[in-house]
Amino acid sequence: MVSVFSSLRRSLKGLLLLVPVLIGLAFISPAEAVQWDAETLTVPVNPDGAEVTFTDREINAGRKVFNTSCGTCHAGGITKTNQNVGLDPETLALATPARDNVDALVDYMKDPTSYDGEYSISDVHPSMRSAELYPAMRDLDDEDLRLMAGYILVSPKVQGSSWGGGKIYF
Ligand code: HEC
Repeated sequence: MVSVFSSLRRSLKGLLLLVPVLIGLAFISPAEAVQWDAETLTVPVNPDGAEVTFTDREINAGRKVFNTSCGTCHAGGITKTNQNVGLDPETLALATPARDNVDALVDYMKDPTSYDGEYSISDVHPSMRSAELYPAMRDLDDEDLRLMAGYILVSPKVQGSSWGGGKIYF
């Protein structure tokens, strides 16, 4: 009887040590360790329904470039200086042309247009075309643009409405 109790106590003690260690590991593990499934990483590449599947590594790389180049205005998918034109899927889809695919986003980063598509806004929005005005654009290449587009499109699938959410219509 006694030995049953003492071994029970020992395994309880072990458990008490193990639990905090496991909880700690769950929080400490780096964000890079997150694995998204292929469905999450698959997004439209053009308006015709073609799709592309990114890798976790590509999306993480896209996040870094995005945070550096676009984060001052678009952190979390919102648009600080114009809350009506966020980077959430609905707003992108309703732009002219629709910006809810990789090619259209890359096109925007090269030559951004007003929401109705009527005129170029490259003089007021960072772009490859206006790289002399926006130094953050100078060191980017086509691959960087593609990875940022991937990050913009995958984020709402990972973060839900908190990507671009909380916007105020006025
Ligand atoms: C100085 C602030 C600023 C920076 C930096 C910036 N943007 Fe923007 N972005 C805006 C504003 C303001 C708008 C809304 C433009 C309009 O009125 O149509 C916008 C709109 C957009 C849109 C259109 C969204 C839609 O729903 O149609 C996309 C896409 C976009 N930005 C991507 C980017 C990317 C990618 C970067 C980084 C390379 C970037 N932006 C950097 C301010 C910024």
